[in-house]
Amino acid sequence: PEQSIHLLLCALTWGAEIKKTRNDVRKFPDGFLFGTATASYQVEGAWDEDGKSENIWDHMTHTQPCIIKDCSNGDVADDSYHQYERDVEMMRELGLDFYRFSLSWSRILPSGFADKVNEAGVAYYNNLINEMLKYNIEPMITLYHWDLPQRLQDLGGWANPHIVDWFSDYARVAYEQFGDRVKYWITINEPREVCYQGYGANTMAPILDFKGIGEYLCAKNLLVAHAKAYHIYDEEFKPVNGGVIGITLSAYWYEPETDSEADVTAAEEQIQFENLVIFPPVMKEKIAAKSEKQGYPRSRLPEFTPEEIEYVRGSADFFGLNHYTTEIVYRNESVYGIRPVPSYYDDLETGFYQTQNRKMVPWGLYKLLTKIRESYNNPPVFITENGFSTTGGLEDDNRIRYYRGYLSAMLDAVEEGSDVRAYAAWSLMDNFEWMQGYTERFGLYEVDYDCPERTRTPRKSAFVYKEILQTRALST
Ligand code: NOJ
Repeated sequence: PEQSIHLLLCALTWGAEIKKTRNDVRKFPDGFLFGTATASYQVEGAWDEDGKSENIWDHMTHTQPCIIKDCSNGDVADDSYHQYERDVEMMRELGLDFYRFSLSWSRILPSGFADKVNEAGVAYYNNLINEMLKYNIEPMITLYHWDLPQRLQDLGGWANPHIVDWFSDYARVAYEQFGDRVKYWITINEPREVCYQGYGANTMAPILDFKGIGEYLCAKNLLVAHAKAYHIYDEEFKPVNGGVIGITLSAYWYEPETDSEADVTAAEEQIQFENLVIFPPVMKEKIAAKSEKQGYPRSRLPEFTPEEIEYVRGSADFFGLNHYTTEIVYRNESVYGIRPVPSYYDDLETGFYQTQNRKMVPWGLYKLLTKIRESYNNPPVFITENGFSTTGGLEDDNRIRYYRGYLSAMLDAVEEGSDVRAYAAWSLMDNFEWMQGYTERFGLYEVDYDCPERTRTPRKSAFVYKEILQTRALST
């Protein structure tokens, strides 16, 4: 009973907070930037055209044809390689300030190494960038959004420390080719997913399940690789071109089920282990102790040298944040668990993933932004992804509620001092949703996969987003 009273009180407080924000007309700060986001493998298609080589998603989906939920792949995806002018037209329709997209490493450097630049691949991105700039839409480039050249994977991919050089050589090529026009750079999208799901579980390419070792090797190399790409930009390109560079992390909010010390600590650890910090002190201690018990000669966590620590420290001009949902954390005696936010916290049954029971919880974003402000000295934050999936259809009222709710929660944090400067909706259009294939639709525009041109049609949410951008306000 105590617990249900607690939950009820919380629900009432949160309900009141949400109500308060819903009744106001609220302005976004001057200079605030609105955009949408996509990623190369999810939209481009043209998987082997004009000299592009195989990446890890091509390889995985071609060698294991039904590994994806609907047995699909990204061979054609949204065909953006050929439809980029329509993509830019949609950006104009929405009135975007910026568009976040990623570069396909294997399209630009087919061998994986920086020995030979593929001019046709570079031309595609030049065309896209120039088309956007014609209409004053700022490009925001992600260098790595999960599609490693397969050749580099054959050499160990992110588990090989030499990737620090491979990645930074590739980054340099990108800065040289596009840096005169591109002022916003993100090195890597969601390190945790890259490493934990790709090298510590079977849930993403390259599906190497070295749980307890692989993900940590990957994470260390990835952080140093990121730092090297940051320093190259910071020292050699920023002074000439201006511009900013950061990294994008994914973070849920984890809410303790009650205010008991056990639940609160469990939620805090979850935030640290799973979210904002890679290798927090609490993790170092726990894994060192566990490794010893398991008979390993050393901790399963690789060490950083003091030089590496200095090199990584401060290597971001902004905090890129991908945020989708919130979960509840509890710890009772020895039982530790996470569960979806119960539906009575929210009147909606649907989640951000239709197939998983994840909820629409705007106050989670408010709490997360507050935590980032308070724990990390109020860094500039770019929300590089936030969005909601459905199974399709143009009447997407739930997506509209999601965007309105989350933007309002973001403004709550901004009004309390959080330095949020940009917001990108995921996604401009439906696309290949990784292991879920085309079954989860995140687009403001619907894409018709039965039609070779992949026709794009605006959903109801596209019109709402457009209005928010036009008025720079959130009205009820
Ligand atoms: C995070 C990833 O960056 C993106 O590629 C993915 O499609 C969305 N989340 C939705 O799951």
